[in-house]
Amino acid sequence: MNLESLKGRHLIDPEDFTMEELQALLDLGLKMEARPEDYADCCKGKIMGTLFYEPSTRTRLSFESAMLRLGGQVLGFSDAAVSSAAKGESLADTVRVMDDYAHTLVMRHPREGAPKLASQYATVPVINAGDGGHQHPTQTLTDLLTLQKYRGAIENLQVAFCGDLLFGRTVHSLLKTLCRFPGMTFYLVSPTELRIPGHLRDELQHRYHITLHETPHLDDCIEKIDLLYMTRIQKERFFNEEEYVKLKDSFILTRDKLKTAKEDLMVLHPLPRVNEIQYEVDEDPRARYFEQATMGVYIRMALLSAVMGVKLA
Ligand code: CP
Repeated sequence: MNLESLKGRHLIDPEDFTMEELQALLDLGLKMEARPEDYADCCKGKIMGTLFYEPSTRTRLSFESAMLRLGGQVLGFSDAAVSSAAKGESLADTVRVMDDYAHTLVMRHPREGAPKLASQYATVPVINAGDGGHQHPTQTLTDLLTLQKYRGAIENLQVAFCGDLLFGRTVHSLLKTLCRFPGMTFYLVSPTELRIPGHLRDELQHRYHITLHETPHLDDCIEKIDLLYMTRIQKERFFNEEEYVKLKDSFILTRDKLKTAKEDLMVLHPLPRVNEIQYEVDEDPRARYFEQATMGVYIRMALLSAVMGVKLA
């Protein structure tokens, strides 16, 4: 399959793309990772606009790195306080203006639904780079590319998501997407207060007919799983400090806790981490979260070139 169908399309939710389109993007991402020099000029003359209303290291900078490696240019802001949002400009007006300044817009926003709203005012593709506790589809693409590269076929895997599953947008997007692959089993490991949202549980069970094993103990599944997806307890999503302090140390992955895990387990984390993975785990060959951050550049190269419909070598 070629990627022409993605030209001009928005990416707000991972379900915006078909399985065939996702697979074609992964195939292109792997090709770009193997031979980035072959794609060095394909976005020449194109501009990517970044509208980041919330902090980011990996997502914004990997998008910028991707666009620069494709020979394109970037403009934008990384802090709403230095944009005219600080003077009261609406999101709709900002998008109408940026629409004329760039060929695609990448947006992160603390409010759920903001990139969707933006897409209704844009004529260029809008890419959701994370909206509140809702979705983070390009992190999912990154996670899938990492799985594809280091694991091979994405099927028949036992997957544990661990940490903040309530507000964790990376979890919501990846879980919804992995459900579409065959033979997957899911363990959802979190404190009771941070279990996945009810609407997502209902959707997964009724649409995909999957069984979710929910538990507060990682020990219940550590020996069985092929993928451990760790997440941070996100201070910024809590309504009060007391609740955060109570839950912040719920899960801390150590070398010792991995002793009974499979030898070919893969440990991923969207990053940033705080203390939920101890630094000693970084030396374990099963830890792949820094490789994962690297793969984010290549899948975003594939995505940018696809939605802008550029001619590839
Ligand atoms: N994974 C991720 O979204 O990281 P940043 O918040 O640094 O962009």
